[in-house]
Amino acid sequence: MKKVLITGANGQLGQCLRKIAAQFKNLEFTFKNSKDLDITDALSIKKTFDLVDFDYCINCAAYTDVEQAEKTPDIAFRVNAEGVKNLAFVCKKHKVGLIHISTDYVFDGEKKEPYSIDDIPNPINEYGKSKLLGEKYIQEIMDDYCIIRTSWLYSEFGKNFYTSILNKAKAGENLSVTDEQIGCPTNANNLANYILENMLMNNVKNRVKHFTDGIATTWYGFAQSILLENSMHGKVPLVRDKNYRTFVRRPKNSVLK
Ligand SMILES: NC(=O)c1ccc[n+]([C@@H]2O[C@H](COP(=O)([O-])OP(=O)(O)OC[C@H]3O[C@@H](n4cnc5c(N)ncnc54)[C@H](OP(=O)(O)O)[C@@H]3O)[C@@H](O)[C@H]2O)c1
Repeated sequence: MKKVLITGANGQLGQCLRKIAAQFKNLEFTFKNSKDLDITDALSIKKTFDLVDFDYCINCAAYTDVEQAEKTPDIAFRVNAEGVKNLAFVCKKHKVGLIHISTDYVFDGEKKEPYSIDDIPNPINEYGKSKLLGEKYIQEIMDDYCIIRTSWLYSEFGKNFYTSILNKAKAGENLSVTDEQIGCPTNANNLANYILENMLMNNVKNRVKHFTDGIATTWYGFAQSILLENSMHGKVPLVRDKNYRTFVRRPKNSVLK
């Protein structure tokens, strides 16, 4: 029986992993939320890893508020870079395979085609920079790791674009959505499944991967699909937001190959 630690377990991806965990009979899971285990607290991490001989750690802990990260980058870097560094050191010491989730926002969005794992990251906002530094720490410190970059996560859990559009549509609100960025919406349940299946195949050594659900669209296009899927298309006004302004720069193209 392989022992798996999941950090940030109350987040969107953490909850998707928890939902399917029972299907993976030969894996034994320990779920730690941010209160049980703060990844910025090296002592707390040490105690957790001293208590149980984990085989894998899936790091779902992250500071994911892109707007707020721009205003308080120190917090984003503390979690997404320094916290990840703490995990990398302890995983190396205890010979635990680290599966870490990263983001399309490590790229600047200037490329016209989808980004491959060989493209050079060049983040344009603090969230992306903090996540890239987390990746670099892992690669410097460890051999037994897998960094999975994903994009535009949605699920039935937490606050995400899908639930927010659906709730607004159900409340009869007018929807105004930008079509200025292109990316791949990814169901976090599919990502959770991919992570556990790969882990079972012991496929986590020393690599960066991209995982998305494959279909590239804009936020406007994604909103259309959400309305269609929920039989609400045409029933709620949906317009392209031509005056979309954001406090933070976001990559125009963040499609991952
Ligand atoms: N969401 C997306 O669209 C998206 C896109 C690309 C990549 N990703 C990446 O995918 C991963 C999972 O994202 P998600 O959507 O599941 O994010 P999420 O819902 O925001 O979950 C992140 C979790 O991390 C926890 N956390 C924050 N600081 C922590 C700390 N210091 N120690 C331990 N836990 C901490 C949070 O707990 P609290 O709520 O208690 O703070 C939260 O439960 C992240 O690495 C993210 O960067 C996400």
